[in-house]
Amino acid sequence: MQSFTTSLSPGVFETLVDTRTHLEIAGLTKRFGNFTALQSIDLSIEEGEFVCFLGPSGCGKTTLLRAIAGLALQSEGRIVQRGQDISALPPQDRDFGIVFQSYALFPNLTVFNNVAYGLRNRREDRHRVRERVEELLALVDLSGSEGKYPAALSGGQQQRVAVARALATEPALLLLDEPLSALDARVRVHLRGQIKALQHRLGVTTIMVTHDQEEALTMADRIVVMNQGVIEQVGTPAEIYHHPASAFVAEFIGQMNFLDVKADDEAAVHLGRRRLENIPHTCAAGESARISIRPESVELTHDTSGMSARVEDVEFLGPFLRVSLTLQDDGQGLMADVPVRDAQSLALVAGQRVGVHLPGDALRVYPCREASR
Ligand SMILES: Nc1ncnc2c1ncn2[C@@H]1O[C@H](COP(=O)(O)OP(=O)(O)OP(=O)(O)O)[C@@H](O)[C@H]1O
Ligand SMILES: [Mg+2]
Repeated sequence: MQSFTTSLSPGVFETLVDTRTHLEIAGLTKRFGNFTALQSIDLSIEEGEFVCFLGPSGCGKTTLLRAIAGLALQSEGRIVQRGQDISALPPQDRDFGIVFQSYALFPNLTVFNNVAYGLRNRREDRHRVRERVEELLALVDLSGSEGKYPAALSGGQQQRVAVARALATEPALLLLDEPLSALDARVRVHLRGQIKALQHRLGVTTIMVTHDQEEALTMADRIVVMNQGVIEQVGTPAEIYHHPASAFVAEFIGQMNFLDVKADDEAAVHLGRRRLENIPHTCAAGESARISIRPESVELTHDTSGMSARVEDVEFLGPFLRVSLTLQDDGQGLMADVPVRDAQSLALVAGQRVGVHLPGDALRVYPCREASR
């Protein structure tokens, strides 16, 4: 097992003497006829990183993954892997293992033969193939399933076989296209942990496509948020969550309130007739803008002398209450997540009036020209 693990991660040693960059994508554009699926993508992925491509359906995640694999040739741009320009190489000459969204195991082959497939193509000797398959199946916790056919396995087990198969030839890069999306919620959460642990152990650079923000936030070292063929933001889960670079990212990741405001010429905005100070922005005075704040950052108080709101609805969500509010000033809606502990003293019931505090450091301002994109 030990020697296997070591042999699967040659990158570790090269990294020390070579560069830290595994993949460099520059100016990558992909058109299908008149339709531009990817527009000037620039992205750099470090050696050993776990990166998630995250975005809504049709934003170009699979297309970008396929371009990296050479399964869809880019219209423009370059892809460099470990210093080698692979832009024009066919898939078989590129160094990756891939797991597709649909399990894509060969249904007529046993688990053993599925995993052995790539190794046999390389004409590895029989003894070595057997040894490697056993090791890989142990790695994904499926020892003993060698003789089974895919149809006799659960969805989660099939995906683990698919991961073992993708890793069989010791690729430097593992590409996963929504590997968990077809599975039920419990299995998905369990497999998340397993895949992440496996990736960490092998140190293999990994790109996983998902449209599930929770999956990306829990698994990725860095998230690439995509929208309509462009990258909106690249960052760690914490950066993406706490400092969304655009209104799109703010809205796509987690729960977010947006309130319409008018910018003032100083670091202030007008929310209805109320002036909120100490909110730096780049808008011109009088320009329409939106401010965003997460429900957990909204503070509710007894003091209704300042900004206040009417409680419309209270939803119990375990450790916290989600409170729907209407701002007294201008009738805009707002959601607040209140820890159960704090909620008790506030007597939150529909119709009740509560004070609202929007901490300046939790607010972000988006110009409407951007917010309406
Ligand atoms: N072969 C093709 N011919 C024409 N258009 C295509 C082709 N492949 C993809 N597209 C288009 O490119 C866009 C991006 O597709 P892609 O499959 O990359 O999206 P995605 O982000 O993976 O979405 P999903 O989450 O639904 O899988 C879509 O509008 C799609 O219709
Ligand atoms: Mg896709």
